[in-house]
Amino acid sequence: MCGIIAHVGDREALDPLVTGLEKLEYRGYDSAGIAVKNGHGLDVWKCSGQVSDLKRTIDTVESNATLGIGHTRWSTHGPPTDENAHPHTDDSDRVAAVHNGIIENYETLKEKLSEDGYEFTSDTDTEVIPNLISYYLDRGNEPLAAFEHAVSDLDGSYAIATVIEGSDSIFAARQGSPLVLGLEEDNYYLASDVPAFLGQTDTVLYLDDGDVLEVRSDGVEIIDEEGHLAQREVEQVDWQPGETEKAQFDHYMLKEIHNQPESLQKTLEGRFDRDRGEIDLDLEIDLSGVESVQLVACGTSYHAAMFGASLLNQCGVSARAIRASEYDVSAGTPSEETLCIAVTQSGETADTLTALKRAKKAGATSLAVTNVVQSSAAREADEPIYIRAGPEIGVAATKTFSSQAVTLTLLSQYLAEITDGGEPLDTLEELVSDLSELSDAVEQVLQTSGAERLSRTYLNEKAYFFIGRGLGCSVAKEGALKFKEVTYEHAEGFASGELKHGPLALVTERTPVFTICVDDSQKTVTNAEEAKTRGAPIVAVCPPDHEVVDTADEHLYVPDMHPVCSYLLANVQLQLLSYYSATELDRAIDKPRNLAKSVTVE
Ligand code: AGP
Repeated sequence: MCGIIAHVGDREALDPLVTGLEKLEYRGYDSAGIAVKNGHGLDVWKCSGQVSDLKRTIDTVESNATLGIGHTRWSTHGPPTDENAHPHTDDSDRVAAVHNGIIENYETLKEKLSEDGYEFTSDTDTEVIPNLISYYLDRGNEPLAAFEHAVSDLDGSYAIATVIEGSDSIFAARQGSPLVLGLEEDNYYLASDVPAFLGQTDTVLYLDDGDVLEVRSDGVEIIDEEGHLAQREVEQVDWQPGETEKAQFDHYMLKEIHNQPESLQKTLEGRFDRDRGEIDLDLEIDLSGVESVQLVACGTSYHAAMFGASLLNQCGVSARAIRASEYDVSAGTPSEETLCIAVTQSGETADTLTALKRAKKAGATSLAVTNVVQSSAAREADEPIYIRAGPEIGVAATKTFSSQAVTLTLLSQYLAEITDGGEPLDTLEELVSDLSELSDAVEQVLQTSGAERLSRTYLNEKAYFFIGRGLGCSVAKEGALKFKEVTYEHAEGFASGELKHGPLALVTERTPVFTICVDDSQKTVTNAEEAKTRGAPIVAVCPPDHEVVDTADEHLYVPDMHPVCSYLLANVQLQLLSYYSATELDRAIDKPRNLAKSVTVE
């Protein structure tokens, strides 16, 4: 977790560092800090709180520094205090470092360095890094050699950027945590993610695990894990700077909900032929021998994985969605005929990457369904399928769920077509035709939704339940996750038939039950009735002429389309409900407490 940014070049550094931190704040917002190299040495400013707090501290600073590093933190080792904020310096203030990841052997290193007289002032694992570099500088090494020695002593996952007094370079390393270099004429930016410098440049170079870098204003040197000088491909990203702005919206979450007509269009572009009812994912890998599918994911991506697994099973392809954090204890051993699909927006979620690596080690073929080009999952898997949703900044995932679910829908039909025993849905033609109308249908829901009014009707209830069956169950679970993330209210999503096996004990007139029902499942209607009989207000999320309408007290309507599409539209209604409820409650919608956008620790 955490966001890191570094800049070196011929322009002043403080400005791009602060802007970069603002763009990276979705990765962590417990504390923030900056270090720059000035004529007299290093200047470090850091504090607990958000980047806006840091900005107040440096508001009056005048700096001509052209080289610096910055960090925004999501705490792992030590609470979010000023002392634990990055950058961390060595005890002689010659080296400043920012770090994303975990140094697993930091206790051993700290003990050794303490015995050698190096002093520590924080609870973090990171503080060993500048002190180790200092240790090697003290033993006569040049800055680059000192940095390389220090990095080779570290176990764990990290992206690190450092400034060292007396040197005009940024020294950086990547091992298991993202780090991308932005190249602008005579200016270089290193960051955890592209939006940090997208306002300056869209020319990037993705680093590999094991890479160590020296970045100067006149060039970059990359040393790979074998110790050889390495070349990495320079690429253009197709994200626009405006995509990382809030524009006219109060929050990124609302912007990203409203972006869905466009993002879905991009997801679907060129991937199916409406006239011929065919799907073309342009995959190079041969998946015809696949006998079973494991979809591994966390959080919202797990709900998209459930959606995909449900469709695959409907098509006779044996599939299971597995929580990535549970993979080693509940997945069993995949075979060579297993396809493991890592579903991850960021492509950097540690639990998901670990599960993917395990599956690969056991011989499974793999795909990564991800939003971030060249992310760790995209590189780790045999082949990536990009969901093309564009940058998502709000911590609560919205548009990427829709794009993941749509991508997995296409993939499910493709796999059903090419594998033994699989058979695409007999409604495939209708599905393909309705997918081409999906963007317009989302727009219609956004324009007509009653979610804002409803959020006021059911404010401050005791708990919020969401029920659905099949595809509807994944939407119910996602609806509940979204609701709890941004409102901090208690919400649960259930398979509708499970209500009577326990959760019904919680149902009262103070627990609205959002019933997601877009197909002809009579069972869900019955389950809603069971809750209603116990006094629960029922909100039906359904097409206007659905049978469940009569059971419900309130409604959030969706167009009557192929169930795949209608369920995704139901999810859009629930996204709006969560957003407006959180607005009523005055929550920190884009940065919910205790959370961060991508979780790079297990
Ligand atoms: C979504 O709203 C959450 N913030 C979270 O559950 C997220 O989906 C999960 O951490 C997985 O992230 P990923 O898709 O980047 O792997």
